[in-house]
Amino acid sequence: MDIILKNANVAHRDEPIRAADIAIKGEKIAAVEANIEAEAGQVIDCGGRLVSGSLIDAHVHLDAVLAAGLERDNESGTLFEGIEIWGDFKPKLTLEAVKERARRAVDWEVAQGAGFIRTHADTSEDSQLPTRALLELRDELKDRVDIQIVAFPQVGAKSFPGSEAQIRASLDMGADVVGGIPHNEVTREAGVDSVMFIFDEAEKRGLMIDVHCDEIDDSHARFLEVMVEQTFKRGMAGRVTASHCVAMHSYNNAYAYRLMGWIERSGLNVTANPFDNLILQARQDSYPKRRGMTRVKELLQAGVNVGIGHDSIMDPWYPLGRGDMVEAASLTLHVCQMSGVQEIDACFDMITWRNARNLGLEDYGVTKGANADLVVFDAASKADVLRINPACTHVFKRGRLVAETKPAESMVMGGAVDFVRGN
Ligand code: FE2
Repeated sequence: MDIILKNANVAHRDEPIRAADIAIKGEKIAAVEANIEAEAGQVIDCGGRLVSGSLIDAHVHLDAVLAAGLERDNESGTLFEGIEIWGDFKPKLTLEAVKERARRAVDWEVAQGAGFIRTHADTSEDSQLPTRALLELRDELKDRVDIQIVAFPQVGAKSFPGSEAQIRASLDMGADVVGGIPHNEVTREAGVDSVMFIFDEAEKRGLMIDVHCDEIDDSHARFLEVMVEQTFKRGMAGRVTASHCVAMHSYNNAYAYRLMGWIERSGLNVTANPFDNLILQARQDSYPKRRGMTRVKELLQAGVNVGIGHDSIMDPWYPLGRGDMVEAASLTLHVCQMSGVQEIDACFDMITWRNARNLGLEDYGVTKGANADLVVFDAASKADVLRINPACTHVFKRGRLVAETKPAESMVMGGAVDFVRGN
């Protein structure tokens, strides 16, 4: 064996496996068993710490990260001012500057356990500079992280001339996933047309779909039902994701629950993006103010696969963030009131195996034969990861150690403090 992780609590879909050893050979997990006695090049004693599959960021805009304030600040804090600022800034982008900012943010994510990132690349300039920059970065960083690129038309596919050709250009260059933003089209009909265009392109090219869907506080934004219908009709279960879906927050319950049944039936995935949506939504509300998140808890109860994205890291829409998927899961837990014991674990699952399903990943997880894409947390359980937000002491990509963090040491009056309840 190359590496053996001894005495780990293994994070699984269901019950954790306590005090197991994990053997890594080459790029793969060779065994997950109690007391593996084989020789190994390196042995790491986990001391009961949690080991899980890599964290996954299912939705981020790497072409815009760390660009907050570079053009000007978003004073209103709204989605629409963010889009305006981004529109003004875009012509000034250079390939190297985009790569430099994205590289930095990717390393923030990797240091905090991420091994897979699905990023959107804005297609709405003829140069396709964001797609080019992110394709180059995808190759450059492939030893530390797997990146999927979504061809994302920020201004829509149907309302401006040339948008469809721009999306096709990005896909021709090598973008992996077809994106869209139907609620931003000028009419309902244009939005429906854009969904058809997205599904046609994806089917023709054999690609997955990830659409910014109904990211608006308008209860009449109902493109999710169109996506569900197309996913169902075309037999694309598991290959389609609707991101945001915040209008669902404002749907009447009779409609929302009927729709959730159809989402489950169709096999469509949903991605929630708590940082941006909590900041951006309900800006036109007085009090009471809506929370601006899709119905994560109820979707999970209905059997829908829900994942989580970071969405923004210091960009024109959201000036904060450090690429921390555990923080994104914790925020989801709080805003969706998921404090039941199993609900807390479910929040961890959304940034691990549920996002893996969302991205169509194979060979993921802490099981024999899977890729050795692993994280060791300085905490013993999923719930403690969410409570403490501990250091990721070891991050492995395909069996190689790619990131390490030393846990902070706190002392009070000379005595060590460890944030563990004890007995
Ligand atoms: Fe987004």
